[in-house]
Amino acid sequence: MWAFCSLLALAAIPATLAVKAHDFKTCSQAGFCRRGRALSARATENPAWRSPYSIDASSLALSPDQASFTAAVKSSIYPEVNFGLDIRIHDDGVVRVRMDEVGGLRKRYDEAASWALLEEPKVSHSIQWTVAKDKVHAKYGAKNNFEVVVAYEPLKVTLSRNGQEQVVLNGRGLLHMEHYRTKESVAQSKQGIAVPEEGFDTDDSQVVLEQAHPRAAWFEGETEDGWWEETFNSFTDPKPRGPESLSLDIDFPNHGHVYGIPQHATRLSLPTTTGEGAYYSDPYRLYNADVFEYLADSTMSLYGSIPFMQAHSADSTVGIFNVIGSETWIDVGRPTLKATTTHWISETGILDVFILPGPTPADVFAQYTRLTGTPALPAHWALGYHQCRWNYISSEDVRSVQQRFDEEDIPVDVFWLDIEYAEDHKYFMWDHKLFPDPVDMIKDVEAIERKMVVIVDPHLKRTNDYPVYKEATELDVLVKVKDGKTDYEGWCWSGSSAWVDFFNPKSWDWWKGLFKINGPSYGWHWTESTENTHIWNDMNEPSIFNGPEISMPRENIHYGGWEHRDLHNINGMLFHNLTSQAVMERSNPPKRPFVLTRSFYAGSQRFGAMWTGDNLGTWEHMGVGVKMVLANNIAGFSFAGSDVGGFFGNPEPEMLVRWYGVGAFAPFFRAHAHIDTKRREPYLLDEPYKSIVRDILRLRYSMLPVWYTAFREASVTGLPVLRPHYVAMPHDEGGFAIDDQYFIGSSGLLVKPVTHKSVTEETVYLPEDQVYYDYFSHQAYRGAAKGKNVTVPAELHQIPLLIRGGSIVPTRERPRRSSPLMKRDPFTLRVALDKDGNARGELYLDDGETYSHREGNFIWREFAAQKLTKKSKGVRISSRNLAAQKPAEAVDHVALAKYDDGNDFAKSIAGVRVEKLVVLGLPAKPTSVSAGDKELQWTYTPGISASEKKEGTASVLVIKDPKLSISGDWDIVVQV
Ligand code: NOJ
Repeated sequence: MWAFCSLLALAAIPATLAVKAHDFKTCSQAGFCRRGRALSARATENPAWRSPYSIDASSLALSPDQASFTAAVKSSIYPEVNFGLDIRIHDDGVVRVRMDEVGGLRKRYDEAASWALLEEPKVSHSIQWTVAKDKVHAKYGAKNNFEVVVAYEPLKVTLSRNGQEQVVLNGRGLLHMEHYRTKESVAQSKQGIAVPEEGFDTDDSQVVLEQAHPRAAWFEGETEDGWWEETFNSFTDPKPRGPESLSLDIDFPNHGHVYGIPQHATRLSLPTTTGEGAYYSDPYRLYNADVFEYLADSTMSLYGSIPFMQAHSADSTVGIFNVIGSETWIDVGRPTLKATTTHWISETGILDVFILPGPTPADVFAQYTRLTGTPALPAHWALGYHQCRWNYISSEDVRSVQQRFDEEDIPVDVFWLDIEYAEDHKYFMWDHKLFPDPVDMIKDVEAIERKMVVIVDPHLKRTNDYPVYKEATELDVLVKVKDGKTDYEGWCWSGSSAWVDFFNPKSWDWWKGLFKINGPSYGWHWTESTENTHIWNDMNEPSIFNGPEISMPRENIHYGGWEHRDLHNINGMLFHNLTSQAVMERSNPPKRPFVLTRSFYAGSQRFGAMWTGDNLGTWEHMGVGVKMVLANNIAGFSFAGSDVGGFFGNPEPEMLVRWYGVGAFAPFFRAHAHIDTKRREPYLLDEPYKSIVRDILRLRYSMLPVWYTAFREASVTGLPVLRPHYVAMPHDEGGFAIDDQYFIGSSGLLVKPVTHKSVTEETVYLPEDQVYYDYFSHQAYRGAAKGKNVTVPAELHQIPLLIRGGSIVPTRERPRRSSPLMKRDPFTLRVALDKDGNARGELYLDDGETYSHREGNFIWREFAAQKLTKKSKGVRISSRNLAAQKPAEAVDHVALAKYDDGNDFAKSIAGVRVEKLVVLGLPAKPTSVSAGDKELQWTYTPGISASEKKEGTASVLVIKDPKLSISGDWDIVVQV
């Protein structure tokens, strides 16, 4: 589709160029969303509104150990319909609430959790439910300070902490699970046939409505709005199953901010969509979609969906994970500054909600990633710089781009090939006219351990001379049209195409086999590749040019007979999952795969990286990209980035330089550009831009130890790699809405990438009474207890980057052409003393590509600076083995017993040393600096001490080549 858009050759993006909004539904164009919002409107307008759903107390059944319970739920308007409720509390205090229709006309989709969850969570056996006349409740937590109350009539679930309500389900009575029905039964009941009256609640206002419309009008509305068929643009959705949507209000009575539910181009603290003065008029939409030239400020859905939301206040963070695979709309309201209401409306599926009790952001991340998995620890090289464009057009082109990088001494780790490498867009099949020698070309790239990433999209060209398509038809693993038998045909890059149904287990081994270089496999396999070639999965929403909303018809059928509408948002994750397994299994022993995905769901963090899709080369997109990457980070998916330079348009040099500044501080750092754009590799820039970009890239490379250490932590604890203020400083209200500056892991680095034109300085918010140092100039800034803004220089060659006092930051500062060449490079430690004269930091390292860290092959160091005595001005700077101290947290899935100090990796870097320490904020010139009995070489520049409230250049002590190993224990004593 993009190929038709020649306007993209324009030099800059004109302001009028915008999303083709008419390709995508608004809430008012989706029947179930209209119905959900109308339900909410009726509830708001009717003071006597009461949820018709209640628990039948006589049905309540506790499990033998009383750790969970089930109960029958009835709706007073449809007493003949049965619902089953199941509530349980996990070991970590997470509450799971499930409700399904029982004995209905058919089964509702209940498999979303099986794809999202890492494993079936363990139910706590130490929490006991107590059954009362009107409710069942459970208390738990260290001081029994958490309480879950499930009220019978109307059904309402409340989680409280210390007596204060944290999360309320169905408090406003918007729960509605549209039960399955037939057209005939509806028609009959309207004519008054077989309308059961018993159990109907005859509240006065309901009676009035009831008279106007038989039975359910007060609750479901007057019309069968979009129940049986819907038309959008030229597409008709036959809706063979009729209405089946699910509506639920989830409120946070004591939280003024909510975050999460990516992917939307919006602020991190989600603006309101309902109530007076709502910022947006449409709810946030989750429906994975390929949105052409998306808006930079909108609730429209984008490529991925993570139905996970956090609510935050100064003393509490809670989370909601609403495991739904179908299209979902979420209204956000803020009745008071301190309370947030949300209303979730989904097209299909059972109710399966996890309430994450927090109470801190760190607890919520641990709870969420215990459910869906932590981000996989990436290969070290994947944190380097990735050079992509649509397209490098031949082997020679790839070689010459690589050569130009080397000539200009610009670091890069990965070269990418977009769809034009593949003959007729038949992925895996090289276009030999342009790429006559693919394996040799890849090996040339791999010569200094660089890597290639090659695109493999999910649409298969429907031609029998394409073995992948042919085998997929033979195996019968393609998605079907609504008859469940005929393979679906749609239009994508490769013309007439078919889509593999990755929900079908039969497709799994076959798909993985395709990537095998030497076989064995089902049939065809990719001999023209190497085991170090990694993969890019694009268009996996799926994007279908002639489909409704540029995607797959909802009535299409997947394995198990499920309609596409049930699992649409999960679809892209399965493709990503299988590809990632395929890449891992290419080598023996396996290596960590790198697979980039555009579409994602809860759990995708286990399989690789994502990017924010086709952004525009505008300042607005550059800015919102930062927020989107933050939103992904707090939704469990840290390995995220945006196309550097902007996908569409030709950025002027200033914009391109700033975009590199943004990319260098994103977990995933890739430049990419549309086929119609001018080439813009950094070596093509004129001076001074070229040198500035080279310096930014070198800065990124120098900080790879910081990124890798942050990823270790994320992969173990679930804490995000990028930490917005509310995560890093949860009590500081001044930071809750901040989303243009953030911390990197636990490193203490605070960055505010510049995303505006003609900037020469920036305001940075300091959230505490602490010293922060400019990373480059060593200027000391002093924050204040209630937060303070400081002005920092931000000329084009400058990035506002501060080190929080109290941090020790390990870097590697030798410029190299690729990250593997840095393996044996020495380290610099920046010791940024806090106002009390102390500091600490960490470094994690392993071989960066295999899983041998799980066998105990890694180092995990702690660096600390501590005052020699309470009153002294001198400090002791030490290096200790953290792995030996707290191995339980060391690395993912490690068999901890296997760790020992003399492990193979530690041995392999025994000779790697610390070449320099830079100590910021010492109170005075040292009298001696020694390691053991050896006096070290050092220089001292006087300046502001960490404890001074003044601002100015900090004092700097540089200790040169102390001849200490990065992996050994040591102490440096600085006498002052
Ligand atoms: C759409 C992707 O978002 C873009 O990055 C890619 O270049 C094109 N597809 C072509 O593959």
